[in-house]
Amino acid sequence: MRQTNLDEFLQLEEKNKKLESKFKEEVRKNQEKEKVLVEQNKMASMGEMLSSIAHQWRQPLMEINSLFIPIEAKAKLENTVNKKELLTAIEKLNEITNYMSNTINDFRNFFSANKQKHKFNLSTQLNSVMNILSTSLKENNINIEIVVKKNPEMYGLKSEYSQVLINIINNAREMLVLRKIKNPLIKITIDKKDDTAIVLIEDNAGGVKITNIQDIFKPFLTFEKSNGTGVGLFMSKVIIEKNMNGYLDVENLQHGALFTIITPLNLIKNN
Ligand SMILES: Nc1ncnc2c1ncn2[C@@H]1O[C@H](COP(=O)(O)OP(=O)(O)OP(=O)(O)O)[C@@H](O)[C@H]1O
Ligand SMILES: [Mg+2]
Repeated sequence: MRQTNLDEFLQLEEKNKKLESKFKEEVRKNQEKEKVLVEQNKMASMGEMLSSIAHQWRQPLMEINSLFIPIEAKAKLENTVNKKELLTAIEKLNEITNYMSNTINDFRNFFSANKQKHKFNLSTQLNSVMNILSTSLKENNINIEIVVKKNPEMYGLKSEYSQVLINIINNAREMLVLRKIKNPLIKITIDKKDDTAIVLIEDNAGGVKITNIQDIFKPFLTFEKSNGTGVGLFMSKVIIEKNMNGYLDVENLQHGALFTIITPLNLIKNN
């Protein structure tokens, strides 16, 4: 080899070594960054889980509160409490606390990779949701009309599906109360077409009164309410459309809002 060639070769070799060590250094840095990202992601998921649980617990806590108000008042005024009334309240309390304990499991399930799937019947599931919400609906004299056109058998993420129903019905209740609607009504229709389950939730609260109606599905956007977090419909949209390959939308009818939920009967995850 001629001297110049050898020099060039040695220089190249030197450059290569430098590049290699630089490369290794960059790979190490990247791995570190990834680790930080994974940790951050875990923290974000935990935060999400906590705020979801808090969101799901607000309703049952309110239910418990209103459950014992009349009993407390009677005990103070009359010094006696009707045994039957007390037992009914305790039974209801058990049901609510069971639900609260289930939501924790549901959310652990929600954020874990292995989601538990169940077979369920849509109208039975709707009934248990209505049971959970019944105290606050009654308290506000809200009429409920349930129309079962068809009652599909479903399979999949049952509790997440119920959570969506709860969010939408709760929103309707909140709006009916907030706007002091006379003869408040929530009408729920369940149906089945081909391989899809259809749930329509309609109220007479006057509809969504914002320019871009789709904004209600954006995270942290809340309108008219003083205590809203703006998470309910965002979460519902993610559950139905991302997790279940379904469709959730809203439109304004003459007297109020109509929410349409369409999902495959098989509520599978696509990720
Ligand atoms: N049935 C309805 N009629 C009229 N407006 C509605 C109805 N449902 C939802 N909205 C509007 O959509 C907004 C977003 O709802 P979403 O459930 O995401 O949040 P939120 O109810 O404000 O707060 P959160 O559910 O987190 O407590 C509500 O603040 C409300 O203004
Ligand atoms: Mg809400």
